[in-house]
Amino acid sequence: MSMTMSDPVMDPMTSFWSSLFVYIERPNLINKRLMGCCALNCWQISDPFETICDLMQNCSLDELKGKLPESKQLSDFQLSGIRCLEGQTLIVRHLLPKLSLKNLNTDCDTNTSQVIDFVLIDIPNARVVFVPKATDSHVIPECSHELFLNDTQEIELKYLLANETNVWLDEKVVPKLRQWMRQELEGKEMKGSLKLIGVDHYCLTYNRLKRKYGQQLVQMWRKYETTDPLKFVFEDIAIASYLIVLWEQQNEARDKDKTRKQSFVDIGCGNGLLVYLLTNEGYKGLGIDLRRRNIWDKYEPKVDLVEKVFTPSDESLGDLFGDYEWLIGNHSDELTPWIPYMAANSSHSTNAFLLPCCPFDFNGSKYQRTASNLSQYSCYIQYLQTVCQQLGFEPKVDKLRIPSTKRICIICDQRNYDKSLENEMRVKRKTLINEKLKDFNDYKPRDKVETVRNCSRLPKDVIEAIVTIIANELLDGNENLTIGSIPKLLTTDMLTHMKSQCGGIQTLLRNNKHIFEVSGGIIGFTRPKPIDVTTNGTTDTDKHLKSKRCWFFHSHPNGCPLPATQCRYIH
Ligand SMILES: C[S@@+](CC[C@H](N)C(=O)[O-])C[C@H]1O[C@@H](n2cnc3c(N)ncnc32)[C@H](O)[C@@H]1O
Ligand SMILES: [Zn+2]
Repeated sequence: MSMTMSDPVMDPMTSFWSSLFVYIERPNLINKRLMGCCALNCWQISDPFETICDLMQNCSLDELKGKLPESKQLSDFQLSGIRCLEGQTLIVRHLLPKLSLKNLNTDCDTNTSQVIDFVLIDIPNARVVFVPKATDSHVIPECSHELFLNDTQEIELKYLLANETNVWLDEKVVPKLRQWMRQELEGKEMKGSLKLIGVDHYCLTYNRLKRKYGQQLVQMWRKYETTDPLKFVFEDIAIASYLIVLWEQQNEARDKDKTRKQSFVDIGCGNGLLVYLLTNEGYKGLGIDLRRRNIWDKYEPKVDLVEKVFTPSDESLGDLFGDYEWLIGNHSDELTPWIPYMAANSSHSTNAFLLPCCPFDFNGSKYQRTASNLSQYSCYIQYLQTVCQQLGFEPKVDKLRIPSTKRICIICDQRNYDKSLENEMRVKRKTLINEKLKDFNDYKPRDKVETVRNCSRLPKDVIEAIVTIIANELLDGNENLTIGSIPKLLTTDMLTHMKSQCGGIQTLLRNNKHIFEVSGGIIGFTRPKPIDVTTNGTTDTDKHLKSKRCWFFHSHPNGCPLPATQCRYIH
């Protein structure tokens, strides 16, 4: 079974690879003498492991290039792609030693201070071999070594030459990797997830879908979308797996034909990926969204996606939805509270599945938290449960295994009243809506073209996380970082926030001029400017002086090049 892609099902093999991939991609997290690294070359390897290990130890980079077939080279390989690898792969890494600020824009391809190593990744056998080349012993250890998953499912280190050892590898690297692996395994994050469905059944389904669609969708994504495929594709595979298992279990519990396939509408389906997956698994369904996406045309015609604006007062929608068993709201924003409402009114047997992210109320405005001891998100989940109950459901909640902080789903597949009371319940629902809204038309669908709002309204932690991602990319030596290439570095959550609240990366960069500057479309670090000292010795009177923390002093590995007295920001 391939475990190479970011896999939310945590077993020792998966957590071994998540830790190792992080270490290969960002050795600077453990090695404080490094600033980062990038891949120079990458080959898919079919020769025996031992043969390649010998080659790695005995060849220079040029010799290696002569020996490995050109046809097996993966062109444009980037380290962030290691999670997609299968079999054996040899990567040549250029390790970037920490530099002073003035040399920050190192070019990955020039040989200024060339520290290189060969890394052989052997996925099926859970081992990685590191062979340093043309090295500078002040930056990385000079001995070749292997990190592998031993019989007791622990990370272990082996030196390729019997007489070599290295204290730093033994005492720093191995303990750190073991700690990462433990954290992954225990995964506080994952605790308490999948309460309503069989975990074994889920894992089998998830792995099956991942094998069947993973690679193909990631490739398609890279071609047609700008967002991070690893996040989007695997999150939707996880959601589809959850629904499939839930539905199969329902067939069993209700003594229905085991192979019966439920029907569904995904309301606010966005890129349509969930509809694509469920349709291909044999479930009859429909996706609607007020804005069609380019990628819709790339799916087969059987993937039914319709550009349609949902308005709660539109009665024809009730009839349409009545033909389907499940209404799905996956990060459905303003539509979220309306989905159980529509489900309840469509027919006594219509169900709803919600995976909420940004909190919206019935009138389309942001839901306001009512309890100060709970997070906005927890409050919103509780609020939705209450609403579902009032609408006539017996809602259940569960936690999905997806790499997101918004993982709680609400399942409405049981009513809390008898079918004979349907008419009274309709009246009750109408009353409920009247309490929430002055009139149905208070709900206004959003504009098809997203409005531009100011980035300062993004939550502070989201801004900080995005700043860190951009900064890390620059520290990793990316010299061609354009605004357009940022979205694919961000998580789904960040993108959702950016989409719903702000004018985009450009505004974020403008609000952080003290860290980044954009010149000729390329993002770089701002060179901290000293406080102007005028000829008569007085300092300038800029009202922003010392109004913010100095990002360089507090966050850049090399600190701020200016002394505190000269820096415009607070050290
Ligand atoms: C945050 S996105 C989520 C997209 C997708 N479900 C996903 O998880 O990737 C919310 C989607 O709801 C759609 N939407 C919002 N209001 C809508 C409405 N009144 N009718 C139809 N679609 C709507 C938006 O166009 C957007 O694609
Ligand atoms: Zn400073």
